[in-house]
Amino acid sequence: MRRDYDNTDYCRRLHALFKPGNGVSPPVLAGRDDELDTLSKRLDLLVCRDEVASDVVLYGPRGNGKTVLLRELERLAERAGADTLTLRPTQVPSALDLAKQLLYNDHDALGGLLDRLTPSALSVSLPGLTSARWQAMSQSERAQVNLERLFPLLAARCRERPLLVTLDEAHTLDIAVGQHLLNLSELVRGKARAPFLLILAGTPGLRDRLGAMNATFWGRARKLGIGRLTPDATAQALARPLTDKSVEFDPDALDAVVEDCQGYPYFTQVWGQALCEALVERRAPRVSLDIVARARPGVDREREDYYQDRYTEMENNDLLAAALVVGDVCGRANERVDSRTLRAALVAAGAAPAESVAKAQVRQLAMLGYLWRQPPGVDWEPGIPSLMRYVNEKTARFTPDEGTGAAPPSGMSP
Ligand SMILES: Nc1ncnc2c1ncn2[C@@H]1O[C@H](COP(=O)(O)OP(=O)(O)OP(=O)(O)O)[C@@H](O)[C@H]1O
Ligand SMILES: [Mg+2]
Repeated sequence: MRRDYDNTDYCRRLHALFKPGNGVSPPVLAGRDDELDTLSKRLDLLVCRDEVASDVVLYGPRGNGKTVLLRELERLAERAGADTLTLRPTQVPSALDLAKQLLYNDHDALGGLLDRLTPSALSVSLPGLTSARWQAMSQSERAQVNLERLFPLLAARCRERPLLVTLDEAHTLDIAVGQHLLNLSELVRGKARAPFLLILAGTPGLRDRLGAMNATFWGRARKLGIGRLTPDATAQALARPLTDKSVEFDPDALDAVVEDCQGYPYFTQVWGQALCEALVERRAPRVSLDIVARARPGVDREREDYYQDRYTEMENNDLLAAALVVGDVCGRANERVDSRTLRAALVAAGAAPAESVAKAQVRQLAMLGYLWRQPPGVDWEPGIPSLMRYVNEKTARFTPDEGTGAAPPSGMSP
């Protein structure tokens, strides 16, 4: 699109170009080619009705783009001719709700399916159930049938049309419902060999949650860790959408913004939006350091709000003392730290009375996205490095008793 600040449509599009927010697809989904490649291969198998080897789990700290990856995959699946069902735990509080979602998500797909099935296929898939009988049933009778016969019904639906089910925020899924879903997936894919693919997404707490549902699921699923973007991918996320609007970055301006984003996908969108506002305000032909300087206060305000929420969350979980120590250790080690070093530092600084408590703290901090382990690595790295600096600066303003409950670790200003 040609750059034209006199054109209100152009200005409006520029303002709406970047998408800071929850699960809102960015103009360019940068740096996820490997993940998309892996997922697309599974999707191809699904659509060609070949055997899909296992379910998929996307996990990673908040704001790294799990939901937008799911959305992209749903788009690809629909384009390839599969049915897609987008679920959240709040939609499936019980097994019955799960059954309803799996069978009726496209307005009574099952009724239509039964109409289309030949009598012989019907009696094989659903012995004793005819289309006429199904149509005559009340909602609650149908619901009961669903629960009892969910597996063959779902398999029949998938045979009609391959089905992709995505379940976001799966770390909050009810355990009993999750057990049901994981079993169903195995049965439909494995036993009935029907084209069905389940993709679960959630924060790193998902591993424990899935473990509580099915002891072997995690080990068998294809897992994709969704962490921060590389500097090149960050640059792409920022520059490519603007190039499409005939605006280029000066290299030094792009470097400055990429560095400030720290590979955190959410910040690429916050920066992008602030830069667009500055561009329109100044009617600027390029993103220069001057435009970056104009955009920066707005970005800093957004980030402050974001970090304040994270800080309060850790405070409410009694994790500030641990967060402070962990930030200090990661800073000194230039980010990557092994578990043992972290635990020893927590105990030495008095943030944890024993190694076992330190271990639990590290785990909790990982669940909150403060720490992250990018697979296949085993060392910890910051979820977002500047969040660690924020915690350090904010906590250092309090005395030990008021603030963290622990003395600031050595090397930190009081
Ligand atoms: N690969 C990417 N390139 C550019 N922007 C991205 C990318 N992935 C995510 N974003 C942006 O980051 C923000 C967060 O994305 P998303 O909501 O998908 O993260 P999430 O991991 O699902 O977070 P949460 O765990 O809080 O649900 C959105 O504004 C989205 O547009
Ligand atoms: Mg999400």
